Amino acid sequence: MSPRVIMSGIRPTGTGAAHLGHWEGALKSWVKLQDMGDCYYSIVDWHALTTEYQDVRSIQDNIRQSLLDLLAVGIDPEKSTVYLQSAVKEIAELNLLLGMMTPLGWLERVPTFKEQQAQLGDRDINTYGFLGYPLLQTVDIIIMRADTVPVGEDQVFHLELAREIVRRFNGLYGDCFPEPQPFLTPIPKLPGVDGRKMSKSYGNAIYLNDSAAAVEEKIRPMVTDVRRKRRTDPGVPEDCPAFALHRAYSSGEEIAMVDAECRKAGIGCIDCKKILIHNVNGFLEPFRQRRSRYEKADVADILAPGNRRAADRAAQTVARARQLMNV
Ligand code: TRP
Ligand code: SF4
Repeated sequence: MSPRVIMSGIRPTGTGAAHLGHWEGALKSWVKLQDMGDCYYSIVDWHALTTEYQDVRSIQDNIRQSLLDLLAVGIDPEKSTVYLQSAVKEIAELNLLLGMMTPLGWLERVPTFKEQQAQLGDRDINTYGFLGYPLLQTVDIIIMRADTVPVGEDQVFHLELAREIVRRFNGLYGDCFPEPQPFLTPIPKLPGVDGRKMSKSYGNAIYLNDSAAAVEEKIRPMVTDVRRKRRTDPGVPEDCPAFALHRAYSSGEEIAMVDAECRKAGIGCIDCKKILIHNVNGFLEPFRQRRSRYEKADVADILAPGNRRAADRAAQTVARARQLMNV
């Protein structure tokens, strides 16, 4: 069996960095897959434009933050090809070519299309570019001839569409692209500090670049099991968002201890959270250190070799696609 070709992308949007939900949902497998095949990891700035085209001021800074996130979690640009989407012009060419044979209905029925339009109510994303978002994502993947795509659950539909487009292309013109499969990490959804799903838009996230003090300030007032109004009230750990974080970042012994003591009010929430704060900070510390090592580095310098490798591979793919399409 030939080695896997792995591709995934991170959108440089929002203010700054990735949070623990991004880590659990996708970045963790990006790191793991580095030793399992040929990895292409892209900062997809054209995708950022699909929703941020009205205010483009922070894109360069967001690119920088996304790159620092990748380096901080342990993506190694010597092992993996780390590149900027807009540095690979072949992506735009293949996007145009595939646009000729992608039925409008396939794009219109993508659930995120209508959902996001409703959610981002203040911004007008009734655009050609936004409709084309999943096609551009398909191109990101197949231009690298990737078979494995580490993403969160929310991207599964996009991957289905990618496979449909691949089948249509291969059927119409001849074999060119492998069918990409999602690589999912089965994890329970990580709650944010208010108990809802951890999300940038809820303001409840713990960021990979949060300082130790920031982590403490977020976890100390964190929502716990509502049964524990007083120190002497026993609790049910399964109903406590702080316990869900313990499960992810504390040792087996600590989890077992908290689980038992919480139920008989043997430990108070303040002490329980102290352990959690310590462990989350311990987990984030290596990320912070790697991040600070790159803080002064030049983004363009770090991306240059990856941009070149990605463009070379993309050029090979597009040459074949053009030949098959007779243009
Ligand atoms: N749509 C993805 C997200 O929102 C980002 C993305 C763009 C992507 N191109 C990709 C993911 C290619 C995987 C492969 O997270
Ligand atoms: Fe949650 Fe810990 Fe308090 Fe139990 S003791 S409710 S697990 S914070």
